[in-house]
Amino acid sequence: MKESQGGADVIVIGGGVVGLAVAREIARRGRRVTIIERGQHPGEGASHAAAGMLAPQSEADTDDSFFQFQVASRDLYPKFAEELRAETGRDIQLDRTGTLYLAFTDEDEQELERRDAWQTRAGLPVERLSAQATRELEPSVSPHVRCALRFPLDWQVETRHLVAALVAAVELFGVNLWTETGASGLRVSSTGHVEGVETERGLLRAGAVVMAAGAWSSRIPFSITESAGRNSSAHTTTPAPHPHVAPVRGQMLCYRHTSIVPFVRHVIYTPRGYIVPRRDGRILAGSTTEHVGYRTGVTVEGVRSIAAHALEIAPAIAGLSFSESWSGLRPRAADEWPLIGASDEVRGLFYATGHYRNGILLAPLTGQLVADVIVDGRTPRLLEAFSPARLRERAHAVSHGE
Ligand code: FAD
Ligand code: GLY
Repeated sequence: MKESQGGADVIVIGGGVVGLAVAREIARRGRRVTIIERGQHPGEGASHAAAGMLAPQSEADTDDSFFQFQVASRDLYPKFAEELRAETGRDIQLDRTGTLYLAFTDEDEQELERRDAWQTRAGLPVERLSAQATRELEPSVSPHVRCALRFPLDWQVETRHLVAALVAAVELFGVNLWTETGASGLRVSSTGHVEGVETERGLLRAGAVVMAAGAWSSRIPFSITESAGRNSSAHTTTPAPHPHVAPVRGQMLCYRHTSIVPFVRHVIYTPRGYIVPRRDGRILAGSTTEHVGYRTGVTVEGVRSIAAHALEIAPAIAGLSFSESWSGLRPRAADEWPLIGASDEVRGLFYATGHYRNGILLAPLTGQLVADVIVDGRTPRLLEAFSPARLRERAHAVSHGE
C-alpha cells in the first residue's frame, strides 16, 4: 500500500460530533490532527439525525456514573457554545428554556414520582407542575396531561449548526479534514503499537489513532505490519477484536409551524416520545429504537408510532404541515455506556465511541477527556467507568463464574 503524505500526530477516524469534538480539543492543545471521514460531508452519520436534546434528567434512569458524566457534559455547554462562537462566529442555538416531562397514565405518574425523588436526592433542580400549570406554561400540551416535571437545566442545541461550527473550529485549529476517505484498516506493528490508518488514499501514519466511527467503530479491522509481521521471527499477536458497537436505528419526523406564536417553547418528553421546537419554526418528533442492522430509511410503522406519540403530547400537531423525515444509526455498546479511553490491546489506539442516545450531549466532555489522555498522558477518574476494556473484563468474569 502506498503511503499518503501529510504528517499527523493523531488521526481521528470519523467526522461526527464526537470525532470533531475530540479533534478540536487535541488540536487546541497543539497536536497535528487529521480526521478521516468516509462521507461527503462531516456529520452525515447519527449526528445529522439527532434531536439535539441535552437532557440527562429526562433520559437517564438512575444516579450512576453515566448520569454524572452526562450532567458534567451538559454543564460544559454554555462555555462550549461561547467558545465555538468566539472561534467561528457561528451560533449553535443553545436553547436554555428547559424540558417538560409529561405524565398521561398511572405508570407515567409513578415514573415521574421516581424521577423526581432520585434527582432531588442527587441535588438537581426539578419542578413539579399540575396539569393546569403545565398547560398555562405550554398551551399546546394535551388536555389529557395529568402532571409534569420541569427540568430547567435540560436544554437543546441545533445539531446541524453544532456540526458546522465544529467543522469551522477544527479548520481554524489546522486540522486536516479528509472527507470521502474511508478507513479500511488499522495498521499495527508486530509489537502491538498503532502505526497508522489504511485508506483509499494510501497509508496515513501516526502514533495515535482515535476510533470515533460511531456505529461502524468495530468494523475497521487490524492489519499487522507486513515487514515485521506474521512471516518474520518477531513475536506477533493479532489483537482481540474491537469492543462491539452495534447500530440502533432512530427515525425522526419534522413538522413546520408558521405562526409567530411558538407552538411550544420547551422540549417536551414522555416515556414514549418527544418533541423539540427549533427557533426557525420546525418541530422535530422522535423517535424509534430499532435493531435492523445498518439499514437506514423511514418506514410506515416508524412514521405511525412517532406521530402517535407526538399527537399524545400535543394534539394540535395534526394541523401542522409535514416537512421532512430522516433516520440515523445510534452507536450502542453492549451495556449502553460509551467506550472512551485507551485500548488495552493496541498501544496508541483510543476509543471515543458508543455514545448511543447521548452523543450530542456528551461531545464536549468526551473531547476534553480524550485530549487529557492523549496529550496530557493522564486518565481522569471520570473515565474509569467507560474504559473500553470493561466489556471484555465483564465477559471474562462471567465465563469464569466470578
Ligand atoms: P456519527 O455521527 O455516526 O459519526 C461517525 C462518523 O464516522 C460518520 O460520519 C461516518 O461516516 C464515519 N465513518 C464510519 N466508518 C468510517 C470509516 N471506515 N472511515 C471513515 N469514516 C467512517 N444524542 C443526544 O445527545 N441528544 C439527542 O437528542 C439525540 N437524539 C437522537 C435522535 C436520533 C433519531 C438518533 C439516531 C440519535 C440521537 N442522538 C442524540 C444520538 C447521537 O446522534 C449520537 O450519539 C451521536 O451522533 C454519535 O456521534 P458519533 O460522532 O459517535 O457518530
Ligand atoms: N436521545 C434521543 C434519541 O436517541 O432518540
